Amino acid sequence: MTGDADSTAGPAVDNGAEPPLGRGFGHGKVILVGEHAVVHGHAALAAGISTGIAVEARAGRTSGESRLHVPAWSLEAGTGDGTPVGRALEAIVRRMEAPGLDFLADARIPSRAGLGSSAALSVAIARAAAAAVGRAEATDAIDAAVMAAEEVFHGSPSGIDAAAAKSGVTGRFTRATGWQPVPVLQKITICVGLSGRPRDTAAQVAAVGRLRARMPVAGEVLGLLGRLADDAGVALAKGDVDGLGRIMDAAHGLLAALRLSSPELETLVHSARAAGAVGAKLTGAGGGGAVIALAPGHTRDVLARWRAAGYEGFLADIVAAPAGVPSPGVSSAFAGGAPR
Ligand code: MEV
Repeated sequence: MTGDADSTAGPAVDNGAEPPLGRGFGHGKVILVGEHAVVHGHAALAAGISTGIAVEARAGRTSGESRLHVPAWSLEAGTGDGTPVGRALEAIVRRMEAPGLDFLADARIPSRAGLGSSAALSVAIARAAAAAVGRAEATDAIDAAVMAAEEVFHGSPSGIDAAAAKSGVTGRFTRATGWQPVPVLQKITICVGLSGRPRDTAAQVAAVGRLRARMPVAGEVLGLLGRLADDAGVALAKGDVDGLGRIMDAAHGLLAALRLSSPELETLVHSARAAGAVGAKLTGAGGGGAVIALAPGHTRDVLARWRAAGYEGFLADIVAAPAGVPSPGVSSAFAGGAPR
């Protein structure tokens, strides 16, 4: 999430006053394999996590103006304030034809950590706005509002973050086919490690675009990442955790070849492997943000190793679902603190 906090303004919503006119929720997400490849038309595999952002909409205090308050991120924004968050809010309320609302967000994921915070927030606001004006079923309008907000935050996003934030299940995404839930044979717990360095999705996506233009083989690397995403889908469906770990390692190597890693991300990846992970990789745009590690029997060891190195982490469970049945989603226990 980008945007300036306006610490001089009061809270957007007087909590505990009138009951909300609408409520909405957006899931956080982890990209298992295929980030950046998905921007260039290839496949990616992502999982919505049960932890996310809940938003309540109430009648605004200023006619026509909408405001947003996210206490966990010390963030206050309003339509017309010119900040990225204010402009994203404006894009949503305009498309939902829902002016003059105040939104209060309960954010349970850190911002700018590669966990889809902007998409989760946009989905939650759009759903709350839709409910507030009696348009909760207007899914096309909600989708358009979320994408408009995501474009404010990230330039030209593939749409995978928004799709995962809406769905909350594990899915395969391409720009051409959109989001398709995928089966997960058995519960898989992943460790999520936070580098503490905010990532900038638009900048990272632009850097990969420049590299691809200058060095055509980078395009082939992106294609390989897309193939690995499909291999990862097969591994998930078979319950092949070791295979998935190898795929994650290979994907991390390819992402590092595209210059998307960082010293912090490398420390997290290598310390996870040293603590028993069968696979580890950066997740999301890279350059900062988060890593994921697969460490059956060693999840607590990985978290302890990260903590000893000065990094926070938490666990997210990719929940089992029988083959052929969409996964019911992912549960997670976020133990993180302040937004990063
Ligand atoms: C960011 O979570 C994922 C990227 O592939 C960007 C996108 O798909 O829009 C880096």
